[in-house]
Amino acid sequence: MSGAPAPFAAGAEVPSGIAIAPCGNKCRQRQGSTAAPGADMDDLEGRSGLPDALRVLLRDYPRESWESHAHFDGLTRFWLERHLMFRSLHSRLLMASRDLLDRRSDPVAFAPRAARLGGFLIEQLHGHHQIEDLHYFPVLAGAEPRLERGFALLDADHNALDGHLHELTQGLNATLRALHAGTHGAGEAGELEKQLALFGRFLDRHLTDEEELVVPVILHHALRM
Ligand SMILES: [Fe+2]
Ligand SMILES: [Fe+2]
Repeated sequence: MSGAPAPFAAGAEVPSGIAIAPCGNKCRQRQGSTAAPGADMDDLEGRSGLPDALRVLLRDYPRESWESHAHFDGLTRFWLERHLMFRSLHSRLLMASRDLLDRRSDPVAFAPRAARLGGFLIEQLHGHHQIEDLHYFPVLAGAEPRLERGFALLDADHNALDGHLHELTQGLNATLRALHAGTHGAGEAGELEKQLALFGRFLDRHLTDEEELVVPVILHHALRM
């Protein structure tokens, strides 16, 4: 994909003020975590889908049936569209980082675009997780106690993603600083590309599993969130 590109040309004038705001206490846990990927079958980094015990309702409400179900309402659609937006933002950021790494894009144009896409993705994901943890999951777990463990798993995913978002913020800012300095941007951009590729895998795992746990509960119990 990327080979071994030479450093970006010195003298590219990336403004110094472009940066992603640190996530601070929104990144509640896992900062500096050394947990081994795949240490637990339920871990976001280790699992390949929802455990069978958490798929009991999904068998009766397969994904292809959701939109035509009488209990599929506008808020569920909106919530699924937020997930699509996160996937799209991540994909655009990853493509931008690959273009930068492969020298197909101008660092001066990359910096504000990456800051805008990355800042929005990180900020919106934090807010989304907070609403789910505080409002959605307690209602859903109360309606379907058999799946309570699933909502604890999703909450743990949010903590894991917080740690990855913190690392992503650092990676983006390291790249932006390097571009501003006008030298050695390739190393930081390479690290950023790896971080984004890994983050995309975890994000997609979480969103897919969350959708397959949440939507069947909403449909089965005709919940109005
Ligand atoms: Fe979530
Ligand atoms: Fe979500």
